[in-house]
Amino acid sequence: IKKIGILTSGGDAPGMNAAIRGVVRTALTEGLDVFGIYDGYLGLCEDRIVQLDRSSVSDIITRGGTFLGSARFPEFKDQEVRKKAIANLKKHQIDALVVIGGDGSYMGAMRLTEEGFPCIGLPGTIDNDIRGTDYTIGYFTALGTAVESIDRLRDTCSSHHRISVIEIMGRDCGDLTLNAAVAGGCEFMIIPEVSYTKEDLIEEIKLGFAKGKKHAIVTVTENMCDVNQLAKDIEAAVHHETRATILGHVQRGGSPVPYDRILGSRMGAYAVELLINGHAGRCVGIQNGKLVHHDIIDAINNMKRPFDMDLYNTAKRLF
Ligand code: F6P
Repeated sequence: IKKIGILTSGGDAPGMNAAIRGVVRTALTEGLDVFGIYDGYLGLCEDRIVQLDRSSVSDIITRGGTFLGSARFPEFKDQEVRKKAIANLKKHQIDALVVIGGDGSYMGAMRLTEEGFPCIGLPGTIDNDIRGTDYTIGYFTALGTAVESIDRLRDTCSSHHRISVIEIMGRDCGDLTLNAAVAGGCEFMIIPEVSYTKEDLIEEIKLGFAKGKKHAIVTVTENMCDVNQLAKDIEAAVHHETRATILGHVQRGGSPVPYDRILGSRMGAYAVELLINGHAGRCVGIQNGKLVHHDIIDAINNMKRPFDMDLYNTAKRLF
């Protein structure tokens, strides 16, 4: 291969810039040309492709988001749309593509590979919900942001002897919520991996107050329930003022923590190595501290994401 393309797709994540830089600098060092594609698969179909040099990725390692821009582009499921994408890649004589994103982005990369265009996927999402890797790029920064927010909410909820219900992102994955809850000292949590009833939660909170708690914090993964309604129900049952806070997209921004910068850099460099060695349709992961690669099809269809039940049980014992 002589020329590679790179794009970021789906929800942005802190550390994506480090990964782009990792790809660009490694590729240039190896004598390859690199092309940046703006706004993910959408920009690919609209032929928004520019050649990148060393300085294109200067001063980006500290910045959150992705300087290439990103987009959700469900139209990419359509083969006709993908044909246009491949035609644009060929027009620029690009031989292979690195895609940084989540599950949906991997699906696009897998389809392109099946249709004859070699792709490598890098896991970029705050949700930590990608199979074949212990951690995704952006997860640790978002975790830090969530914990900092919990700390702040704790201050005010402790002053007012209130209950705080906090919604944390993660789509269908409870990793952010569980880890933020443990780091933030919250015993009450609602996550997709463990079934719950509102009645049990309320009983637990009451028990907490009976044990001498002056305030309480409940963390909830998004999409699990309406946190505003839950706050009202808790207030009515526990007779303590309750407020709901949705952390929302605040968790997606901010300068990446060192681990995300290092992970992005390592994975970016590894993606180029894989392409040079003739791999395609693979996704990169880090498992037990080592970089690994798996078939994207396996990562999407067959592999399981382990849930840290031990950590959950520990959190419960800290009640
Ligand atoms: O996948 C990252 C994520 O932030 C999820 O946690 C959340 O469900 C989703 O993206 C929100 O997507 P959007 O930014 O398109 O509203």
